Amino acid sequence: MPKTSSFDAIIIGAGAAGMFCAALAGQRGRRILLVDHSPEPGRKILISGGGRCNFTNIGATASNFLSANPHFAKSALSRFTPADFIALVDRHGIAWHEKTLGQLFCDGSSKQIVAMLLDECAAGKVETAFGQAATVEHRNGSFQVSLGKDVTQAPALVLASGGLSIPKLGATSFAYDVARSFGLKIVEPRPALVPLTLSGEEALFKTLSGVSAEVVARAGNGSFREAALFTHRGLSGPAILQVSSYWRHGDPVTIDFLPDLRPGWLRQAKRDDPRITLRRLLGRTLPDRLAETLSDQLGIGLELGNIPDRALDAAEHRLAEWQFAPNGSEGFAKAEVTIGGISTAELSSQTMESKRVPGLLAIGEAVDVTGWLGGYNFQWAWASAHAAAQSL
Ligand code: FDA
Repeated sequence: MPKTSSFDAIIIGAGAAGMFCAALAGQRGRRILLVDHSPEPGRKILISGGGRCNFTNIGATASNFLSANPHFAKSALSRFTPADFIALVDRHGIAWHEKTLGQLFCDGSSKQIVAMLLDECAAGKVETAFGQAATVEHRNGSFQVSLGKDVTQAPALVLASGGLSIPKLGATSFAYDVARSFGLKIVEPRPALVPLTLSGEEALFKTLSGVSAEVVARAGNGSFREAALFTHRGLSGPAILQVSSYWRHGDPVTIDFLPDLRPGWLRQAKRDDPRITLRRLLGRTLPDRLAETLSDQLGIGLELGNIPDRALDAAEHRLAEWQFAPNGSEGFAKAEVTIGGISTAELSSQTMESKRVPGLLAIGEAVDVTGWLGGYNFQWAWASAHAAAQSL
């Protein structure tokens, strides 16, 4: 329960963005109340990165984010960079390593990042009210936040309660609901960084559950070279999670199973070794079960020497542009993030403050800025929190 009833700012949501914003604003001398309906702050941080928190990506720029306004994130990202967050992690003596593609993880545990943020909040004398649902009213330019029987107030309210992904970790539509109640526009929220599901004939691929391969996957204008994984429900793995953010119902997902091979490789293989079968040839690059399923689907069982070049060209083309038609995704229950959210058109990119409601700010995943897989979403949480904290 807060000790006082009046603050400079009340921040709703003690996730990555809310905790960081509270700490920075508190350290600037602001009296901050940080509220969360969950008794435990930073639950997504704790499970992130397989328990090691992929806390940033050293290559993060605005081009790694999706938003109705692709320029919106530039200002905040340039004023608080991955190097700034690394410096903080280093100051706390947290050991880290780069795993792949610029992704930085704790050597130890995600708990260290939560502990660091709580220490930073303590340094900023942030008051907290965890495990309590909040309701918000706006009276005479002041935000009144009710926590059970207690009413607190502040001239600034920061919406940091995230998106809709993973309701069982405490995700709610709170930020969108409050924003809507003030007349702010919401870009339709959709699950992103989420496995896609297959049905019908493509359900055949489900027999490959557990098989993965490095591919180039494409959907919409997203294209990623990473691992794709077949699951009992459809497609997953980093490449698929990445393109899921660009995928819309009805769109195909195109997979190049052999991105390193040059056009004409199948005719060449026929000349080099006419007695080899497609299955054996594919098995040199791809897992056996996948090689078998693909050659079965292509209907090429004979040795390559018996297959006309035209048929080989068609098979090669299909292997490079294999089209899946997902019938959906695994939804918010499995989505790492929510794409969409509070429209950036409503917010100042400098301060994250609403253009029409002075004192109302939104940060982190609640805003229509969504990063790729690989530490980008936390970098947005830190950067947007920093931008907001400078203006509180
Ligand atoms: P976040 O969701 O973290 O916090 C929102 C807070 O608001 C929560 O504490 C919640 O309890 C609270 N809240 C919600 N409704 C409320 C209400 N009505 N009243 C009060 N409080 C309320 N990203 C990345 O960069 N690297 C990674 O390794 C991963 N890994 C990862 C794994 C998994 C399984 C998931 C689900 C997600 C990731 N992410 C990630 C994404 C990353 O976790 C996410 O983008 C950030 O946590 C967003 O930070 P926010 O602070 O905006 O929201």
